[in-house]
Amino acid sequence: MAPPHLTLSPELLTKAFPFHFAFNRNREIVQAGDVLRRICPEPLVGKLIEQHFQINRPKILVDFDVITKQSRALFILEFIHNGMQLKGQMMYQPEQEVIFFLGSPWITDTTNLAPLGIKLKDFAIHDPIVDFLFLLQAQNTALADAKKLTSELKQQREQLQSALQMKENLAEAEAQSKKLEKSLRDLQQTQAQLVQAEKMSSLGQLVAGIAHEINNPVNFIYGNLKYAKDYTQCLLNLVHLYQQLYTNPVSEIQEHIKEIDLDFLLDDLPKILNSMEVGAERIAEIVLSLRNFSRLDEAEKKSVNIHEGLDSTLLILQNRFKNSVDHPGIKVVKNYGNLPLVECYAGQLNQVFMNIISNAIDALDDHNTKGAIAEIHAHSNTITITTEVIETKCVIRIADNGSGMTQAVKERLFDPFFTTKPVGKGTGLGLSISYQIVVEKHGGTLRCVSEPGQGTEFWIEIPLSMNKQANHCVQSLSLIK
Ligand SMILES: Nc1ncnc2c1ncn2[C@@H]1O[C@H](COP(=O)(O)OP(=O)(O)OP(=O)(O)O)[C@@H](O)[C@H]1O
Ligand SMILES: [Mg+2]
Repeated sequence: MAPPHLTLSPELLTKAFPFHFAFNRNREIVQAGDVLRRICPEPLVGKLIEQHFQINRPKILVDFDVITKQSRALFILEFIHNGMQLKGQMMYQPEQEVIFFLGSPWITDTTNLAPLGIKLKDFAIHDPIVDFLFLLQAQNTALADAKKLTSELKQQREQLQSALQMKENLAEAEAQSKKLEKSLRDLQQTQAQLVQAEKMSSLGQLVAGIAHEINNPVNFIYGNLKYAKDYTQCLLNLVHLYQQLYTNPVSEIQEHIKEIDLDFLLDDLPKILNSMEVGAERIAEIVLSLRNFSRLDEAEKKSVNIHEGLDSTLLILQNRFKNSVDHPGIKVVKNYGNLPLVECYAGQLNQVFMNIISNAIDALDDHNTKGAIAEIHAHSNTITITTEVIETKCVIRIADNGSGMTQAVKERLFDPFFTTKPVGKGTGLGLSISYQIVVEKHGGTLRCVSEPGQGTEFWIEIPLSMNKQANHCVQSLSLIK
């Protein structure tokens, strides 16, 4: 059976090949595809091929016979109205003596479509250039996406870098501010020390000055009292002798004896002299205590009697223990143990006792002002000072039954400038200085046990000197043996 002879109608052909055209032996265009006709500014059909197209490849004459022979060549034509390149094939059709150009625009970028006045849908569906363009478009979109992503990534990296930089700067700033904070704390402490040292040194100087001034006249009185007593005794003996040997003195003497109440005078004079001696001794003791307290001459560590330091401090504060109208008086209980001489900076340790005992007095005063009168008088204000040796330490405990402390106060107790006292009363330096003296200067510990309403006890622990520690170890060893 003969194969069916099928053809496409010109209408279908113009649709199937929207960019095709056909020309006759006279090179006159006789048919053209839909799109080609649409974009051509002039009528296409009826015109000569060279009026619309230029053959760029192959390099041949525009001649019907010449072209016919090139049926296997790849033709590239230029549509002279807009420069569009068409790639395709020339097919000679002998029955009608025409040549068909079958091809489509040679386009490598979809952005070139619009300037030519064509769209992707103008291409025939079977045209592979469409797939190519689609692929190209997809690739371009992917590329654009990748570019966008890259730039976003770059931006994010930059942001990250600047964030990192900021973090570094922040860390640096933080370190700087920590350093500053520490310097400030150090400065505050130095200032605190200076203020307290100044306070204590002027107090020390004052005390030392007074002690020195009193010392001379007291010595003068105390030294001469002995002679005064001896001379008086001699005179009294003489009077006794007169009384024994001249039993009947003249009336004038008898009257004078009566007037001066000689018997009472003879009895009282030795007593007066004795009490004067006791008083002078007491003054001498006080002077010694004052000198002990100031210890201006002792900047170096020395072995001292801690009890002397405590006693002289109590003496200086004595007027604050006394009874008054609004103040029931403070009882001081001393539980002094058996202490060896302790190697320490005596003057500074006395400062510590002074600060802690003053605080105890303040706490008792505070307790008193808050309570009812009857309650105040029922409550006996007491400061108890206990000393003992525990292991290798000398322990001094100073307790009061005053107002006590809350947890919040206890936490900040040793901070410089922390005070709960009204402006002008407390500077908040006493305990911070004391802490430094005990912990830093003496390698000891300073701690506090307190509850609100239950009173307070400060523990001062000073290590005994290395020598003593060694002795203690030897003693312990011999005990073990
Ligand atoms: N024995 C105590 N009982 C209750 N509170 C106390 C006692 N000792 C100290 N405190 C509390 O600790 C605070 C700090 O004491 P610190 O001695 O350092 O300063 P201050 O007494 O207020 O002032 P100053 O510099 O004059 O000594 C006091 O304000 C007080 O609140
Ligand atoms: Mg204080």
